Amino acid sequence: MNAGDLPAIRSSHADGSRIIVALDFADAARALAFVDRIEPGSCRMKIGKELFTAAGPRVVAEVRKRGFDVFLDLKFHDIPSTVANACSAAMQLGVWMVNVHALGGREMLSAARRAVPPGTVRLIAVTLLTSLGRDDLTEVGLDGDPQGVVERLARMVKDCGLDGVVCSAREAPGLRRALARDFCLVTPGVRPAGTAPDEQKRVVTPREAIANGADYLVIGRPITQAADPGSVLQQINDDIAGVVG
Ligand code: C5P
Repeated sequence: MNAGDLPAIRSSHADGSRIIVALDFADAARALAFVDRIEPGSCRMKIGKELFTAAGPRVVAEVRKRGFDVFLDLKFHDIPSTVANACSAAMQLGVWMVNVHALGGREMLSAARRAVPPGTVRLIAVTLLTSLGRDDLTEVGLDGDPQGVVERLARMVKDCGLDGVVCSAREAPGLRRALARDFCLVTPGVRPAGTAPDEQKRVVTPREAIANGADYLVIGRPITQAADPGSVLQQINDDIAGVVG
């Protein structure tokens, strides 16, 4: 598939749901049994390392066939040519969004952008994994306040022409102030009020995340493990409709 065959990115997120459901399942059968219960248009789907390693490109095709946009969350981090080729391969799968790791550096980010031209697949970057605390950062030689490191990396990501970053909803207000409104912020760690945090340490509600400036919310278990996932999705979509970020 050529870049020209893909739909152009519209300037806002008005083109569909702002919820991205994390399909963290061990195999395609379980993932698709869940997807078959969900109405296309009520969310997009994220396929990460676990499901993609187990089930490969076919599961991406199956989810797309059912009418869902797919965010391929493989956080590419390698030498520039390898990442560029991996991004091209992701584009061939017809995914809606793909990501790389900002710590791969400027040259790698720019190579990824050249492989996935603006206006085709949304290309975003992970700045720092939220599982890393200040001591972990110091140990790997990244001194300084994590929020400052995240902002510095996010500026580099934007400078290389990428469409946005994955960040925690708590980092979103600072990034929103520092970067333009059209820079896309995708936030995990979201929990509807009253649901279990699982192992997420600092959670925010969907409304808080949107009010903090998030464009898209990544939500997994509160939806995938729900008895009636469709109604949980409906509630969250209703809850965030009209919230201004
Ligand atoms: O089930 P839950 O809502 O916690 O799933 C969150 C999803 O977001 C998982 O796929 C997880 O890998 C991903 N994620 C995260 N925290 C980050 C980056 C990604 O929870 N900092």
